Amino acid sequence: MVQQSREQWGTRAGFLMAAIGSAVGLGNIWRFPYIAYDNGGGAFLLPYLIALLSAGIPLLILEYTIGHRYRSSAPLSYRRVARPAEALGWWQVGVCFVVAVYYAVIVAWAVRYTWFSVGQQWGDDPDGFFNNDFLEVSDTPGMVSGYVSGVAWPLIGVWLVVLVVLALGVRNGIEKANKVFIPLLVVLFLILVVQALTLDGAAEGLNALFTPDWGAMLDGGVWIAAYGQIFFSLSIGFGIMVTYASYLKRKADLTGTAITAGFANSSFELLAGIGVFAALGFMATTAGTSVDTVVESGIGLAFVAFPQIISSLPVGGALFGVLFFVSLAIAGVTSLISIVQVIISAVQDRTGMGRVQTVVLVGGATALASILLFPTHEGLYILDAFDHFINQYGIALAGLVMIIVFAWVLRRLPFFQRHANEVSLVRLGTWWRVALGIITPVLLGFMMFDSLRTELTQNYEDYPDSFLLVAGWGVAIGAIVFGVVMSLLPWKRADRIAASDRQGETADNEQDEEESR
Ligand code: ALA
Repeated sequence: MVQQSREQWGTRAGFLMAAIGSAVGLGNIWRFPYIAYDNGGGAFLLPYLIALLSAGIPLLILEYTIGHRYRSSAPLSYRRVARPAEALGWWQVGVCFVVAVYYAVIVAWAVRYTWFSVGQQWGDDPDGFFNNDFLEVSDTPGMVSGYVSGVAWPLIGVWLVVLVVLALGVRNGIEKANKVFIPLLVVLFLILVVQALTLDGAAEGLNALFTPDWGAMLDGGVWIAAYGQIFFSLSIGFGIMVTYASYLKRKADLTGTAITAGFANSSFELLAGIGVFAALGFMATTAGTSVDTVVESGIGLAFVAFPQIISSLPVGGALFGVLFFVSLAIAGVTSLISIVQVIISAVQDRTGMGRVQTVVLVGGATALASILLFPTHEGLYILDAFDHFINQYGIALAGLVMIIVFAWVLRRLPFFQRHANEVSLVRLGTWWRVALGIITPVLLGFMMFDSLRTELTQNYEDYPDSFLLVAGWGVAIGAIVFGVVMSLLPWKRADRIAASDRQGETADNEQDEEESR
C-alpha cells in the first residue's frame, strides 16, 4: 500500500527548513519590495499583516493538517476527504506544472547574471543587454521562433540540480538541500543588506518604502495585492504544503510550525524590502533623482535596476552582484524543488512508481517542456502571460475553491481543527474557522471578481487576443480541465485505500500506533 513505504522527514527542524525554503523564493526578493512600495509603502504593511494572519497562516494550517492527516499527495488526500475533491488536487498539480516550467527560467537567468556581475557584462545599458543581447526578445509575442542557447544552458543546469535533489528523496535530498541552502541564503542576504545599508542614499530608499500613504488603505486594490502576495509568497494554494506535510511523523506541531514558517517568510520579505530599497535609494542619489523614478517592477527590478546599481558602486560591485543573484538563485531553487515535488508525489501515489523512475519520467518531461519553450525569442512574453494568469486563476482561485469546498461544502473545518489540536502545541480556537470560513473567502472572492472584471475589459499588457487565448486563458483553463479529467479516470489503488479508510485499518493508523508505542 502507498502509505506503508511513505518517506518521512528526518527531523522537525528539517521539515520547518523545507517549508521555509519553499516559501522564501523569487516572490520575496523581487516581488515583495515593489508590491509594498506600489501599494502604500509603510501603510501596506497593515493589510499585509492582516492578510498573513487572516488568510496566510490559517490556510497554511489547513494545508498542513490535510497533508498530515491523510499522508498522501494533494489529489489522494483530497479524495480521501471526499471523492469529488480529488479534481482540486489534480488542478493544483497542473498549476504546479505551469509554475515550475517558467519559475526555473528566472532561476536560470539569476545563475547567468551571477556570472555577468563579475565582469559587469551589461556595460552601460542593462535594459538593452537584458532584452536584446541576453534574451534576444522578439518584437511581438506569438509563435516560438528560434532558440537562445545562452538561456538554455543555465536552465538545463538548474533542472539537473532540482531533479537530482528530488531523486535523492525527501530526507536525503529535499531536507538536506534545504538545511544547507537556507542558512547559506540568510547569511549571504544579511551581508548584502548590510552592504546596501552603508550606501549613500540608503535612508532615502527606506523612507520611500516605509513612508505610509494611509489613503491607500481605502483602496480595494491594495488589499487584493496584500492577499495575492501572501498566497504566492507563503506557497499556499499550490498543494505544496499538503505534500510536504504528508511526510511528517505522527507527532508534529502543525500550528506552531505554520506560525513559525509564516513569520519567518514575512521577516525575510521585509529584509528583502530593506535591502532592495536601500540600494534603490543609492541609485536615485547617484542619478540625482528621486526614488520613485528608479523603481521598477518584478523582472525589471532584478535584471535591469540591480545591474545599474552594481555598475554604479565605486567598490565592491562584483561582490554585491554575486550576493544578490546567488541569493535569488538559491531562494528560487528551494521553492522550485517544492513545486515539482507536488507533481512527483501525485504521480507516485497514482501509479505506484518508484521515486527515481517518477523523477526521471515526470520531472524529466517537466524540465523538457521548460527547456523547449522558454529559451526562445518569445520566452519572455510566454513567461509573463503564464505568470499573470496562473497566479490569478490558478493559485489564488484554487485557494479560494479549496476553502469553499472544505469549509462550506464539506464542512470539515471542525474535524480538521480537532486533528490539528490533537497533535499541536498551539491550540486552534474559533478564530481559525472564522478567518478561514468567512474572512478569507469573502476577501478572496472580491479579489477574483475585481481582477476578472479588469481582465475582461482590457487585454493583459495589451497582448493580442490570439496570444492570450493560448498562453493566458488556455493555460489557466487547461489546468482546471486537467484536474477534472484526471479525477474522472478510474484509480484502483485509491479505491483500495478508501476501502481500508472505511474499515479504520489504514496503514496510517498502523503507523500511528507504531510510532506512539
Ligand atoms: N513561495 C515561492 C516564492 O515566493 C513560490 O517565490
